[in-house]
Amino acid sequence: MKDQYGRELTDLRISLTDRCNLRCVYCMPAEGIDFRPQEELLRDDELLLLVRVAAELGVRKVRLTGGEPTVRPGVVDLVHGIRQIPGIEEIAMTTNGLLLEYLAPALAEAGLTRANVSLDTMDPDKFHRITRGGKVEKVLSGIAAAEAAGLRPIKLNSVVVRGFNEDDVASLAALTLDRPWEVRFIEMMPFGSVGDFAEAGVVNSEETIEKIEAALGPLTPLNLSGEDPARTYRLPGAAGTLGFISPVSQPFCAKCGRLRLTADGRLRLCLLRDDEADLLTPLRLGATYEEIKETFRAAAFRRPFGHALAEKMFPQARVMIQIGG
Ligand code: 5AD
Ligand code: SF4
Repeated sequence: MKDQYGRELTDLRISLTDRCNLRCVYCMPAEGIDFRPQEELLRDDELLLLVRVAAELGVRKVRLTGGEPTVRPGVVDLVHGIRQIPGIEEIAMTTNGLLLEYLAPALAEAGLTRANVSLDTMDPDKFHRITRGGKVEKVLSGIAAAEAAGLRPIKLNSVVVRGFNEDDVASLAALTLDRPWEVRFIEMMPFGSVGDFAEAGVVNSEETIEKIEAALGPLTPLNLSGEDPARTYRLPGAAGTLGFISPVSQPFCAKCGRLRLTADGRLRLCLLRDDEADLLTPLRLGATYEEIKETFRAAAFRRPFGHALAEKMFPQARVMIQIGG
């Protein structure tokens, strides 16, 4: 399956829920959001049907996101169900790690292949502030559990926020010195009600790289091809790698082959635009399997090129917790 610009579409990110057990400052507003009522979210059977459609159209890799994917009831069974679908070769998860301590073995057993865990700082007070109440020790135990369960490679995601964790980037990067992890620094993107906050506090990757090099020495480039949105580097003598994801300063639209399915059953055509195609409504109105497949294919084909940030606009309809990254 390709879109109108010839980009191959093999990756599907699925938001399992719009709920989360944290409230990160860049992901949702302080006053919270209106969660969707349960009946407006994809049920397991509907979700599995859409993954089957996607796999028949050429999707090979699924990434489960949220909100926080591990708070969805039955997440282990869902992973198991996706695993059974012919064509799906990899199932990854982006998680805040809080529940991995308990869930990692069962998820790995069910067929999860790897996990990206969010970790913006290792300082307990700063972590508490950026996540509005989280305990970093739980995340660190979760990462250890993921590693013990064989989920590999372990990637850690840090969103860099001025005034919150910009001085923690070197200590996060230093984790790769003796661990085979990839620590990735993400430029904060503006969405809806947290858009102004994100625009004001974004730290670009160049500045993050300078801070890390000043503290830990020169970075050796590994892969700057743009095939992966992360440009990767290695610290001198390090076991692991560093990644820099720069949607704001260096958009990677040319190589972007991602489709996103929201928890309420919309195919979101670009992370940073509000264009979406509703799949849940036709599904519930009794559309046939072939009709759903055609709706999916047609929506995927019209994926846009170039995101709204380039036009000095940010998407309004959803904040990140309602998209999943
Ligand atoms: N900008 C960049 N990354 C974000 N994430 C959440 N909100 C934003 C934002 N505004 C990241 C989280 C997590 C993933 C789901 O997306 O830190 O790693
Ligand atoms: Fe939850 Fe992840 Fe959003 Fe933080 S970034 S509020 S952990 S979904």
